[in-house]
Amino acid sequence: MRKKLVAGNWKMNNDVVESTALAKSIKSLSGEFDADVEVLICPAFTSLYSVKQELCGSNIKIGAQNMHYEDKGAYTGEVSPVMLKNMGIEYVIIGHSERRQLFFEDDETVNKKLKAALKHGLKPILCVGETLEQREGNVEKETVRNQVTKAFEGIGADDAVKITVAYEPVWAIGTGKTATSVQANEMAAFIRKSIAKIYSLEVSENVLIQYGGSVKKDNANEILTQSDIDGALVGGASLQSLEFLNIINYAK
Ligand code: 13P
Repeated sequence: MRKKLVAGNWKMNNDVVESTALAKSIKSLSGEFDADVEVLICPAFTSLYSVKQELCGSNIKIGAQNMHYEDKGAYTGEVSPVMLKNMGIEYVIIGHSERRQLFFEDDETVNKKLKAALKHGLKPILCVGETLEQREGNVEKETVRNQVTKAFEGIGADDAVKITVAYEPVWAIGTGKTATSVQANEMAAFIRKSIAKIYSLEVSENVLIQYGGSVKKDNANEILTQSDIDGALVGGASLQSLEFLNIINYAK
């Protein structure tokens, strides 16, 4: 039985003071979280340390939103997996569509980052998803299959099961448009099938697959009760503790 994972991606929001206050507020509600759901928050790099301190003594996990694939070196402005690991960070989001579109991350870079995260014992959340143009051109499955295949290239089965895949259709991110639960589940099942083809049915049954894109408390129930969806990667709605709590509690 796969455990559900609900993650808040705070993106480039909240300074240290605001992040710590939001983490404190989420922590104060954690007694109301369903015990079967893993809860994760991913603040900006600058807030990771203080949020980590604030979450001490709770079950809420902490993750970064990005990382470089090298351990160290002359990469001005970058943060390495070693730095994250040594700070006690457990998860890292890799290949978010905003990274791919705005910062030109390609599949090869995403693959390198995944390997580096796994090498250092970080749990990656790999983001995949098609643009509106690709969906309208009926190439959404081909697009996502390519992203999945290239991301997992050269990664062994033992490591593959440690990767969570987040299906985030680009057209649903921050737009208020969600994929229907049928569309989301269909793609999650397709991703699982693609992983089964690369590895085995067993591996594919163990990989967590989240949905992300305008998840709110009003649509969370429908999305999170789908057979192949194991949680959500939440942007905007994770910036309010009560809204986030409501989403978490639909993920049973
Ligand atoms: P929104 O929930 O704001 O649409 O963002 C989704 C997302 O990109 C999470 O990574």
